[in-house]
Parts: sequence; C-alpha cells; structure tokens
Amino acid sequence: MNPNCRKRMGAIRLETMKVVVQDEIAPAIYELVLEGEMVEAMRAGQFLHLRVPDDAHLLRRPISISSIDKFKKQCHLIYRIEGSGTAIFSTLKAGDSLDVMGPQGNGFDLSELDQRSRVLLVGGGIGVPPLLEVAKQLHECEVEITTVLGFATKDAVILEDELARYSKVFVTTDDGSYGIKGNVSVVIKELDTEFDAIYSCGAPGMMKYINQTFYDHPRAYLSLESRMACGMGACYACVLKVPDSETVSQRVCEDGPVFKTGTVVL
Ligand SMILES: Cc1cc2nc3c(=O)[nH]c(=O)nc-3n(C[C@H](O)[C@H](O)[C@H](O)COP(=O)(O)OP(=O)(O)OC[C@H]3O[C@@H](n4cnc5c(N)ncnc54)[C@H](O)[C@@H]3O)c2cc1C
Ligand code: FES
Repeated sequence: MNPNCRKRMGAIRLETMKVVVQDEIAPAIYELVLEGEMVEAMRAGQFLHLRVPDDAHLLRRPISISSIDKFKKQCHLIYRIEGSGTAIFSTLKAGDSLDVMGPQGNGFDLSELDQRSRVLLVGGGIGVPPLLEVAKQLHECEVEITTVLGFATKDAVILEDELARYSKVFVTTDDGSYGIKGNVSVVIKELDTEFDAIYSCGAPGMMKYINQTFYDHPRAYLSLESRMACGMGACYACVLKVPDSETVSQRVCEDGPVFKTGTVVL
C-alpha cells in the first residue's frame, strides 16, 4: 500500500522554493516545477499559496499541486494566466526563487481504496491538474480508474496523455473540436459502473453537477475554488455556507479545498 493513501494533514510552512523549469504547455497555460523541503509534506489535492514577486501585489495566489516527486523534492503546478499575478508567475525562469506558503488545505482522502476499488476522476479545464497526483497514487494502489475530462476547446486540452498512463480517459470539448462533443455529463450518464469513490475539480457549473449527481455518495469529493486572502483560515474571505444552517460555514482554504458532496452550498 502506498503510504500516501493514508496520510492526513501536513505541516504548514513558508519557504523560498527554487524554480526548476517553466514551460508553456497550452496557450496561456504554464507548468511550473518548484524544488524545496516543503515537498516532503505535500499531499494530493493540497495547494500552495504563492507570493507574487512584485511589491504591488499584497495577496498571495493559490495554485493546486498537480504532481509530487518526493525523491527529487520537486512539485509541479499548472496554472492559466488570469490576471496580473499569474502573468508575473509566467515570467519566472529556471534558477529564480519563489516565496511559497504551504502545503495548504486538507487534500483528497485516498484511504481505504485498493485493487478491488473502482474510482471516477472528473476534471474540467484548469481544474484537471490536481487529479494527476490522485491518479498516480491510486494507480500505485492498483485501483481501477476512469477519468472524464471536459474542456472548452481542443487548444485547452491538458494532461490527457499523463492521465492515460494511469487510467481510462474520456475527453469532451464544449465545441466538439476534440473528443466527444458536450460536457462531462454526456460521458458520465453512459457509465454503468458503481464507483467506490469520485474525485472532481473544475468550474462551478461542473462542481454543481457532480454535487447533485453524487449528493449522497459516501465517498464523492469536490475540490472547490474561492477568492482567497490569507489562505490559512484567519480572515474568512473564502467561506461557503453549509446546507440547512444560517450560522455554520466552511473555509475553502482551511476546511477545504476538498469537500464531500452534500456538505456545502454551491
Ligand atoms: C484552492 C485553489 C486552487 C487553485 N488552483 C489553481 C490551479 O491549479 N491553476 C490555476 O490556473 N488556477 C488555480 N486557482 C485559481 C488561481 O488562484 C487564480 O486564477 C489566481 O489567483 C488569479 O490571480 P491573478 O492575479 O492572475 O488574477 P486577478 O484576477 O488579478 O486576481 C485578483 C485577486 O483575486 C484572486 N482570484 C482571482 N481568481 C481567483 C480564483 N479563481 N480563485 C481564487 N482566487 C482568485 C487572486 O488570488 C487575487 O487575490 C486556484 C484557486 C484556488 C482557490
Ligand atoms: S482565505 Fe482567509 S480564511 Fe480562507
């Protein structure tokens, strides 16, 4: 059994990590490889809170950990340029350093799965990256994995080949320019498998669909995004409501970003 399947929270820390390499893997989408001691504590589904190396940007930017190599002390992040912070990240080059807080958040619970388990991964757009480490670790546990990926168009497709090393992959595009035309629901409706666990990350519409479709499933998980400030549970900028409660809330940065379906209001 891969020991990563059973670990829970890692320690939160600050570190200056080294940029090993940065590549543009699709239009405006970059893969950044960072090296440092923090990698030892990382788990699938956690994120890093990155300081933008520019004094005009006070808030850090949260980016999910896409894959982890503890032997090399390296982790891979994949991000899309959205605004000025991510545009500055895209200028980083090998040898530069980056101020990193993390690993943050709870990560995916991959425990209690083994070679008899069947797992569904559902990813959309720039939400696909954190599922790569999930697939890698579950594959080491000999879990049977089906992956359904949804993208806007052919140019935006990422990580299909990497995920295909560990799982059977279906790709959909909204405009039909690659794979199956439509969104992930077109494929999921046709799957006649009872899955032991579902792990998902994607745009709000996709997360609502997964939340509704697998609302009562005992092991269906959503990795959610929210605008963040502190990224460590102190400021309550990132809260979500809990069903049937006006007073209880969940912080995406500290209680998430991974939530069981049916436990937060989307
Ligand atoms: C837990 C988590 C994991 C994420 N993982 C990834 C990832 O792996 N790859 C990726 O491309 N993007 C990811 N994002 C989204 C990413 O954080 C934003 O795209 C980024 O912060 C935008 O910063 P900016 O300065 O370029 O854009 P701006 O729009 O200029 O950002 C302005 C402010 O809004 C915040 N913000 C903007 N969009 C988002 C958003 N969608 N979510 C949270 N805060 C936002 C920024 O942090 C910043 O404080 C993740 C977000 C969260 C919450
Ligand atoms: S961002 Fe401050 S509590 Fe989540």
